[in-house]
Amino acid sequence: MEKIIALCKRRGFIYPGSEIYGGLANTYDYGPAGAELLRNLRNLWWDNFVHKRDDIVGLDASVISHQEVWRASGHTSGFADAMIDCKNCKYRMRADHLIEEKTKEKAEGKSIGELEEIIENNPKITCPNCGKHDWTNVRKFNLLFPVNLGIVEGDQSLAYLRGETAQGMFINFKNVVDSSRVRLPFGIAQLGKSFRNEITPGNSVFRTLEFEQGEIEYFFDPEISNWEKLFADWKKLMWDFITKKLGINEENLRWREHDEKERSFYSKKTEDLEYKFPFGFKELWGIAYRTNYDLTQHGKFSNKDLSITDPQTNKKIVPHVIEPAVGINRMLLMILADSYIEEKERIVLKLNPKLAPYKAAVFPLLANKPELVEKAKKIYHDLRKNIVTVFDGRGNIGKRYFAQDEIGTPFCITVDFETLENDTVTVRDRDTMKQERVKIEDLISLIVKKIG
Ligand code: GAP
Repeated sequence: MEKIIALCKRRGFIYPGSEIYGGLANTYDYGPAGAELLRNLRNLWWDNFVHKRDDIVGLDASVISHQEVWRASGHTSGFADAMIDCKNCKYRMRADHLIEEKTKEKAEGKSIGELEEIIENNPKITCPNCGKHDWTNVRKFNLLFPVNLGIVEGDQSLAYLRGETAQGMFINFKNVVDSSRVRLPFGIAQLGKSFRNEITPGNSVFRTLEFEQGEIEYFFDPEISNWEKLFADWKKLMWDFITKKLGINEENLRWREHDEKERSFYSKKTEDLEYKFPFGFKELWGIAYRTNYDLTQHGKFSNKDLSITDPQTNKKIVPHVIEPAVGINRMLLMILADSYIEEKERIVLKLNPKLAPYKAAVFPLLANKPELVEKAKKIYHDLRKNIVTVFDGRGNIGKRYFAQDEIGTPFCITVDFETLENDTVTVRDRDTMKQERVKIEDLISLIVKKIG
């Protein structure tokens, strides 16, 4: 993990948040390479689950929402983590994470009483900060971020930053039905920021206060569609996206079902697609059968009729949902971890070319030969009309290859003296390090073909 974090900083993927002021725990900023990678990832997700499907439409709902949204959904009362503090050094952490870190046993979903009993009876569960076994009681801590709107403080002006994008889909369910041509079964998809007041140690962007989610609410009539089949179909779609579209190694993935204690209050069945991060197998993408809990709750709290008529049965129903929900930043961390390779003489990010921040880099062989620099710049300007390309004229060619390998750039194009004679360049493949000589006029089609 340290090596990946160092590479992320060195090559402009991820920086600690507010770093020049000493940092702000659990916040991160994305640098030039990270911003491109995030954008590519979002676009791939959106293309796959919205543009390529007839039955799913997109939504972009507000991050700030009415307090009633979160009362109706149950988040103001039920969306809480169990926290514990070290009496000696005041270090605070999630009680289940503390147990998991110290005993390697799963503790998520256990009750407060169970967590307290485990910690009390196990002197090995010491503070990761000071090493003492001197803990407070376990207390629940709500994860929603309250915000006060306008200048009046107090309950009237209270709103929340959304804790999941999902609620945007439920509260706009009727709007989408009335303003588009969707028919059951159909999905509403959303990509956007969510906020949770998490207390969590390290592991970069795995768990942060502010993160982006890609969620789909797939609405259906349980009398017509079998939820178990839909659940299984969605699991396959998720698996295929991760292995085929992103190119993640299958042996680093597994499914894990939540037991009754761990499952969220709204779910009848939940499974996590877990990835083997450098710190162990952890949730990447969850899928839940939320029944029609949310629409029913919003119907009650808003006093609005959120039922629709299913044209297949002519019956009025409040549809049920299957919800695949993934964290885009967590997916980015998985991609970095999965593609990070140390070879004898270099570190290389073997990113799927579709995700790579830059598809090509163009260099003059020698930085002090104006005729090479000029030719290389011309090629760079032509290429970037079609392909995201960088120009690098610093240092020596070996250093430039080294840097681009660490960023994951699939193709490096070098302009040398032969270029000036016959308009050909060398194209170096990131993974094999093999070079081929190519006519400049064929460059774009060659790279586009290789990216696939
Ligand atoms: N609507 C359901 C829902 O939000 P979740 O399991 O709490 O379910 C879905 O979140 C996904 O969002 C997780 O699988 C994870 O990838 C991501 N996620 C959740 N909390 C996160 C955090 N604090 N930081 C980064 N990603 C997070």
